[in-house]
Amino acid sequence: MNAPQQSTERYDFVVVSNRLPVDRVIAPDGSASWNRSPGGLVTALEPVMRAADGAWVGWAGQPDLDLEPFDNEGIRIVPVPLSAEELQRYYEGFSNDTLWPLYHDVIAPPSFHREWWESYVEVNRRFAERAAGIAAEGGTVWVQDYQLQLVPKMVRDLRPDLTIGFFNHIPFPPYGIYSQLPWRTQIVEGLLGADVIGFQRVADASNFSRAVRRLLGHLTRNPVIEVPEGAGVRRVIAKAFPISIDSRSFEQLAREPRIQARAREIREGLGNPRTVMLGVDRLDYTKGIGHRLKAYHELLREGRLNAEDVTLVQVANPSRERVEAYIQLRDEIELTVGRINGDFSTFGHNPVNYMHHGYPRDEMVALYLAADVMLVTALRDGMNLVAKEYVASRFDEDGVLILSEFTGASDELKRALLINPHDIEGLKEAMLRAIQMSRRDRSSRMRALRRRVLENDVARWSQRFLDALADVKRDRHGSDPDPLGELEWTVPRAPSS
Ligand code: F6P
Repeated sequence: MNAPQQSTERYDFVVVSNRLPVDRVIAPDGSASWNRSPGGLVTALEPVMRAADGAWVGWAGQPDLDLEPFDNEGIRIVPVPLSAEELQRYYEGFSNDTLWPLYHDVIAPPSFHREWWESYVEVNRRFAERAAGIAAEGGTVWVQDYQLQLVPKMVRDLRPDLTIGFFNHIPFPPYGIYSQLPWRTQIVEGLLGADVIGFQRVADASNFSRAVRRLLGHLTRNPVIEVPEGAGVRRVIAKAFPISIDSRSFEQLAREPRIQARAREIREGLGNPRTVMLGVDRLDYTKGIGHRLKAYHELLREGRLNAEDVTLVQVANPSRERVEAYIQLRDEIELTVGRINGDFSTFGHNPVNYMHHGYPRDEMVALYLAADVMLVTALRDGMNLVAKEYVASRFDEDGVLILSEFTGASDELKRALLINPHDIEGLKEAMLRAIQMSRRDRSSRMRALRRRVLENDVARWSQRFLDALADVKRDRHGSDPDPLGELEWTVPRAPSS
């Protein structure tokens, strides 16, 4: 498994992420096929992939699956196999039970296990070897997220000719928390193998630069970090590139009459309450689902909300279901939902409609249109794309977004009702304010939010990042032609009226 891939395939642009942008689907007759995952990242990178002769390296989502590279809708897919034991140690263990809680303000206690770390190193090496094995001479490799933080340095060691980017989709913690990690120096060194390191927020980039100064003593002059190399220094850029969604496609869907009809149907199905509130999250302890349920329950108990007038729809996408903290969270949330419904349900009306499964994008957009109030109460979140999806879908300039100030999205979406989810009284006030807000106030806020989300879409995000990489390449090679710099964006943009 560890030998570098011997391949004659070479690609100018290689994206590396833990999960591939395609899901393997097994039909009842046992035959396997691949479905494109609906994420914004793949939508944004698709045109770059096609124009720059690109390949995507990642795990196919199931253990012990050793597959040959293949084409999917114009993208070369290069699967990396993971054994069941690696899945447990590298993915569930080190990625999601060590790094995830540590990088999210230790909301849950991180576990530190040396065998998990060893597996993380080994799997990162496999991803790096696969990427280095297929990148063309002078090409570009863009590594995604916290599962693969050692890959930039590993790729650089194998292929110093490549330009390397890294984007961290989750927060980077303050040094006081980060320094708990026994392997803190190796991770920082791994990331510094990149030429450009992107973060969601300015605060994440500063936390990282501080960790570099404290652990390695390198000179940092925002956004440049000087990494000693040979007799000189290599300049690494570490700065914020807040990610977004393919906003126009959400708006386009929302404008379709069939989606609007479905939104009406959803409201009818809920008994046409005066107010529909909505939460949409992966079932994760960082999302503050318990906090929002507590606030809602108290409002009902205090009689400040009438259970007959309001429904909270909570979509909780199953996630990392074998990790203990997630198992416990599910029990807690489902107990609370049961209590609220037990206290306030009547025949034909439940104050909470809880769904422990995901929905396709069409259905989500209909739900966004059906919701008067969107609740995003995360305790810590790199960005929170659900907040942006809600805003992009509300072409009718209606609906109120309640948004935690601990999300990356709150740096941009200032005209949401910003809340501190730990302040339950404040959260209750915000819920009441949202429910009672005048149409005029709702429209003016939603218009401002929409301007931001439609302008800063995922195409612009990736363009900014790739431009930064192209600058590095230009600096390094002087006047050498730069394939990425010449790319034209072809992400379709619908009229916004
Ligand atoms: O951005 C955070 C992230 O962990 C992504 O890397 C990942 O694709 C997504 O959330 C879902 O998590 P998982 O891949 O563990 O199901």
